[in-house]
Amino acid sequence: MSQPRPCRATAHSNIALVKYWGKRDGDDPALNLPAVGSLSMTLDVLRSETLVSPAQADGFELDGAQIGGKPAAKVFAHLDRVWRLADLNGARPPCSVRSTNHLPTAAGLASSASGFAALTIAAAGSFGICDQLDGPARAQLSAWARMGSGSAARSLWGGFVRLDAGSRGDGSDCLARQLHGADHWDLKLLVVHTARGAKQVGSTGGMESSRLTSPYYPAWVETSPADLDAAQTSLAARAFEPLGAVMEHSCFKMHACMLATQPPLMYWNGATLEVIRAVWSIREAGGPRGFVTSDAGPHVKVLCESAHAAALAQQLREVAGVHEVQIVAPGPDASLELL
Ligand code: PMV
Repeated sequence: MSQPRPCRATAHSNIALVKYWGKRDGDDPALNLPAVGSLSMTLDVLRSETLVSPAQADGFELDGAQIGGKPAAKVFAHLDRVWRLADLNGARPPCSVRSTNHLPTAAGLASSASGFAALTIAAAGSFGICDQLDGPARAQLSAWARMGSGSAARSLWGGFVRLDAGSRGDGSDCLARQLHGADHWDLKLLVVHTARGAKQVGSTGGMESSRLTSPYYPAWVETSPADLDAAQTSLAARAFEPLGAVMEHSCFKMHACMLATQPPLMYWNGATLEVIRAVWSIREAGGPRGFVTSDAGPHVKVLCESAHAAALAQQLREVAGVHEVQIVAPGPDASLELL
């Protein structure tokens, strides 16, 4: 291969209904193998678009601004990884990477999931590894995306996706797959923004300190497979209450594990708690039913049935500290375009 081809990829962000937190102990860190499996919903509006094209020297532009330092180094290292994993000969040619995040970056809204998925696909297209995302290519690129960010493995598919932790040291059974397409169930996720700006502790460092110091970490890992199976069963049966219950349980177990980390990982702010309480009291009072989840950031995501989404979103906009509530549907597969 002489020159990269200009290629554009779009990948949608995803939110885990059953969470991943922690890497497998003792296995090659470069493979980035999760200690637990996870199950997610891909989101329709929140997405990353990434263009990889030939250049004189490596460059990274995000939302129109030139980016250097650590974020750019991570992007170029991922291009090197894709080049190496594809067994391409010689040195990787320099590339220009231009990304647009249609979601807040590094704020606990899964920008790393959509970002690394889009980068992986655009790089693979650009390096001539694939022309289209057929089944095997999608599975292969999901495994490569995982090495950049665990949750990115799930953003290759739309709808509802399961990522298994697997147990083999080479990572060959740590695979993601689509359980259901976006039209399986008319659900919505309300993305309740409770802060602006980037989070303070990234997930990679955070989950490693939980593994090393949280006394609840072993229980978190041990109880996760049952949650995963229960969520998959409820999702298949479109059983809303049981899915919501296991989703909340997984979220609060993860946050308990985070809080018991030394030093503690507290990703929430006051408004996060106000939103959680509001969702619960509306539900208990017989109002529109929602179930909460939150990630390594202060925002709350509320799962509800479509028919209740507008009314619940309106009530949550009234909660003190809420900046914005987006109503998001299950989203599509990631895509690749050769330019
Ligand atoms: O993919 P990472 O390394 O950014 O970790 C994501 C971790 C959580 O968002 C907290 C949970 C998950 O499964 O997405």
